[in-house]
Amino acid sequence: MLTIFKDTAKSLHERSSPVELPLTVAYKKTLLSMLEYLKKSQDKEYAEKHKIREGVGLAAPQVGINKRMLVVHIPGAENTYVDYALVNPRIVSNSVKKAYLSGGEGCLSVDSDHPGYIYRSNKVTIKAFDVLQNKEIEIAAQDYEAIVLQHEIDHLDGILFYDRINKLEPFKKDENAIEI
Ligand code: NI
Repeated sequence: MLTIFKDTAKSLHERSSPVELPLTVAYKKTLLSMLEYLKKSQDKEYAEKHKIREGVGLAAPQVGINKRMLVVHIPGAENTYVDYALVNPRIVSNSVKKAYLSGGEGCLSVDSDHPGYIYRSNKVTIKAFDVLQNKEIEIAAQDYEAIVLQHEIDHLDGILFYDRINKLEPFKKDENAIEI
């Protein structure tokens, strides 16, 4: 099983470097095992037995690799999932309209509580190489999916969700932002 680094690790606070394509077999294996980890983490029985927390996204720095790669496994309606294994993702456009999770964000690398709202773009367009589709893709994401992807891309820049919480007023309301 993969070891998830905690926020005490240096790799979580550093900017990751781009990945050379074509992807090496080793990096491809890493990404696929990261995705497998997320899937297992969402299996309640497995997660309880192995004492792991449920996650919907994981970035390479969280497994100690400072390279620009991430995976997401986001449950949707009727047993569907949004799955990506992205290499060199970049946000090419984002909405001015913001969104936030009413319950705040969590992270497999962060065990301590950090209450507060994190405002992110409600819509983002991302370009990346997707290992699952084996091609360069463009993703138009919104709402929860957009928030998860922005959270993961932040990891590639050494930014953790709590870095984005307003320290003086963690629950400061942005009346124009969409609550999710
Ligand atoms: Ni995270």
